[in-house]
Amino acid sequence: MSLGPCEIFEVGPRDGLQSETREIAVADKVALVDKLTEAGFRRIECASFVSPKWVPQMAGSGEVMAAITRKEGVRYAALTPNMRGYQDALAAGVDEIAVFGSASEGFSQKNINASIAESLELFAPVLEDARHRDIPVRGYVSCVVECPYDGVVAPAAVAEVADRLFAMGCYEISLGDTTGAGTPDSIARMLLAVRDVVPAGRLAGHYHDTKGHAMANIDASLSLGLRVFDGAVGGLGGCPYAPGAPGNVATEAVNKHLTALGYVTGLDQSVLEEAAAMAQAMRG
Ligand code: HMG
Ligand code: MG
Repeated sequence: MSLGPCEIFEVGPRDGLQSETREIAVADKVALVDKLTEAGFRRIECASFVSPKWVPQMAGSGEVMAAITRKEGVRYAALTPNMRGYQDALAAGVDEIAVFGSASEGFSQKNINASIAESLELFAPVLEDARHRDIPVRGYVSCVVECPYDGVVAPAAVAEVADRLFAMGCYEISLGDTTGAGTPDSIARMLLAVRDVVPAGRLAGHYHDTKGHAMANIDASLSLGLRVFDGAVGGLGGCPYAPGAPGNVATEAVNKHLTALGYVTGLDQSVLEEAAAMAQAMRG
C-alpha cells in the first residue's frame, strides 16, 4: 500500500564532501552531481559559497555549478552564509540557496564566527534580496539535540531559531542532528516544540548516523508528519566544525527504508548505489 510521497533532499556533494581533507577534483564533483540528477532527485545541494579559508574543499563551487548538466525540474542548491556568498551563488546560477543557523551559541561561533543573533542579521539581507528575485531559501538549524561545544540543546532553543528563520522567509527548515546524539525520544521532543511554530510540512529531518540512530529518528519524524529527509549518498560527511561527527545518513539506505515502508520517493535505487560507490571512492 502506498503511503504517499516522501522526498529525500540530497546533500552529499556539499555536506558529504566539505570535510574531506584530500583535494577532490571539480570534474569528480560534477560527475557525482550528474549521477544524482540521473537518480531522480528534485533538489540537490551541490556547493557552498563560504570562505575558502574556513572550508577549503568548497573553494571550486563556482566551477562545479558551471559544469554540471542541469535537468529541468531539478533545483541545484548551495549554502550561503552572508551577502558575499549569496552574490557569488547568484553569479554561479544556483536555483536555490540555504542559510545555516544553529540552535547553540558555541556551534554558531565556531561555524560562522557569529552569535545566533548576529547570524540572523547576516541572513536578513540575503533573504530580503532572494524574496525579490523569487529564489527559494532553505534554512538549516544545526545542533538540534546536542552541541559539540555546549552540550545538550533545549527543544525551545531549536524552536526559537526555526521560528525566526521561517518568519524571515525560509520556505523549509532543515533540522540538523549535527552530532548524531538524537534518539527517537529526544528527536520527538524537539519536533513537538518546533511543530508549534513551523508546520510539519515545512520541516526536514537532517540526521547523522554517528551513533546508529538515524533511521529510528526518521521513523519518529514520519509519525510526527515530516515527509522530507536530507541524506548524503555513501553516508559521507559531517561538519568541519563539529569534531568527531561524521556520517550524514546514507541516502541509499534511507531510500530503501522509505520505499519498504510504502512511501514513494521517485528515486532509482540502482543509480543511487552507483552514486554511493562514486562518493565513497572520492573519499579515497
Ligand atoms: P569571518 O572570518 O568572520 O569573515 O568568517 P569576514 O567577514 O571577517 O571575512 C574574512 C575573509 O573571508 C575575508 O577575506 C572575506 O572577504 C572572506 P580576506 O579579506 O581575509 O581575504 N569571505 C568570504 N569568502 C568567500 N565566500 C564568502 C565569504 N565571506 C567572507 N561567503 C564566514 C565568516 C561566515 C565567512 C566563515 O565563518 C565561513 O565561511 N564559515 C562557513 C563554515 C561552513 O561552511 N561550515 C559548514 C557548513 S554548516 C554544516 O555543515 C551543518 C549543516 O550541514 C547541518 C548539519 O550537518 O547538522 C548545515
Ligand atoms: Mg550534515
